[in-house]
Amino acid sequence: MKQIAVFASGTGTNAENIIKYFNNNAKARVVLVLTNNPSSGVITKARALSVNTIVFNKIQLQDREGVLKTLVDISIDLIVLAGFLLKLPSIIINSFNFKIINIHPSLLPKYGGKGMFGNNVHKAVIANREKESGITIHYVDEQYDNGEVIFQVNCKIEPEDSVNELAKKIHQIEMEHFPKIIEKLVINGT
Ligand code: GAR
Repeated sequence: MKQIAVFASGTGTNAENIIKYFNNNAKARVVLVLTNNPSSGVITKARALSVNTIVFNKIQLQDREGVLKTLVDISIDLIVLAGFLLKLPSIIINSFNFKIINIHPSLLPKYGGKGMFGNNVHKAVIANREKESGITIHYVDEQYDNGEVIFQVNCKIEPEDSVNELAKKIHQIEMEHFPKIIEKLVINGT
């Protein structure tokens, strides 16, 4: 059984969707949800689905004996960032080479980088009158939104679409594609 860990900082709808997707999967499951945010919605969502959760601080994230040790001790095969807003330190990135993936709510390299998360991304896309946006699933390296792209899918933006309408379209394609890509990577190898 392959073991997945999910990092999240916000509402946690992607984490919840991924946990449910793997609930009935014989080959992989989410064994741990980690967050830097004690009031993140992901905590109640994960607990309701009987997945262990850990809240950590910035010192524990940087410490070899902290978050990294937890991940190594339970033999995590794939780390999934699902709305996780901190940069992972190099000690974790180097220990999980090509075993950490992130989802970003735009077609990278457009609308990526520091400060570009959630609705900030959609606001910028709408302000620039883009005709399409989408999602990018990519490997994580030491720079924001920079690692090798694994998968992208786009969605159309109508001229009258608001930021909220774009957010809904993005949410829908995230729900549809992210667990399937995770499944391919974790079962077939990254
Ligand atoms: C998702 O839309 C994800 O793509 C985005 O945060 C949202 C988290 O929602 N990630 C980023 O913007 C990363 N730069 P959720 O907490 O409901 O899963």
